[in-house]
Amino acid sequence: MTFEQWTRAVLARVETALEHYLPTAETAPATLHEAMRYAVLGGGKRVRPLLCHAAGELTGASAESLDAAAAALEMIHVYSLVHDDMPCMDDDALRRGKPTVHVKYDEPTALLVGDALQSQAFVALTSDVLAPAQQAALVRELALASGSIGMAGGQAIDLASVGLKLTREQLETMHRLKTGALLRAAVRMGALAGAGSNDAPDANAMRSLDAYAAAVGLAFQVVDDILDVTTDSATLGKTAGKDAKDGKPTYVSIIGLDASRALAAQLRSDAHAALAPFGDRAQRLAELADLVVNRVS
Ligand code: IPE
Ligand code: IPE
Ligand code: MG
Ligand code: MG
Ligand code: MG
Repeated sequence: MTFEQWTRAVLARVETALEHYLPTAETAPATLHEAMRYAVLGGGKRVRPLLCHAAGELTGASAESLDAAAAALEMIHVYSLVHDDMPCMDDDALRRGKPTVHVKYDEPTALLVGDALQSQAFVALTSDVLAPAQQAALVRELALASGSIGMAGGQAIDLASVGLKLTREQLETMHRLKTGALLRAAVRMGALAGAGSNDAPDANAMRSLDAYAAAVGLAFQVVDDILDVTTDSATLGKTAGKDAKDGKPTYVSIIGLDASRALAAQLRSDAHAALAPFGDRAQRLAELADLVVNRVS
């Protein structure tokens, strides 16, 4: 199977899983559910679900358990995007090529869409396609990655840093939290879903996967910072040039475009190196590291 064929197959599974784990648009209160579905379905690159599936395939996890974990990860990610776009945060009108939720609906709806997606993620993760011990392990991973020492904490640092000249170290910490933590959780959750299988990861395997995920997670936000200055809004599906306009510290503003590109390439090779112990079995993860760094949107 080529990478493209694999990706297409996983993306189809992920759409079906998201459809399954989201309440229908007719469920009361209908406007809230319609807005949740508007935010989640039919858009986005689904990088976190892809990472989760690739890590889980490596560690013998069932496809159904990975679908639940992938849906949960994407729901948390979309919640973070909906809130990130609100006027009190980045104040963006365009996301995934469509009006943002607070523009299409209103601010209270956007707030509640984020809240409800966060809760629904944990509903998905506690479905019986995962054994109880795995449910608990994955809930903890996702909660840690999305909370105040993960994504939400990183977003707090981001908002507090507008107009400041962060050191490179501070910038890296912010990026590892606001974006890296959830991507790292995607890999870890996929791997932990394989617990009990013949290919279940041991402590060494988890360490290698963790090193891979840390590199990919940071690379992802470095590339996001690069694309904000090099790519147009139509290609990105979100407003380009927003970071500089808003005075956000980014890799581009702190170390420049060329050094940012060099760093992304270095992180990609770090990610590949971390996969060495798995040999060819980690091919999908290696290809996903390439996708994260070479993407154009
Ligand atoms: C955008 O994430 C926000 C960041 C964490 C950098 P993605 O680039 O994964 O957005 P979608 O899911 O493809 O829309
Ligand atoms: C967002 O970072 C990280 C999140 C947790 C959503 P950005 O603010 O750079 O994401 P975009 O560029 O709006 O997608
Ligand atoms: Mg932001
Ligand atoms: Mg933003
Ligand atoms: Mg950005």
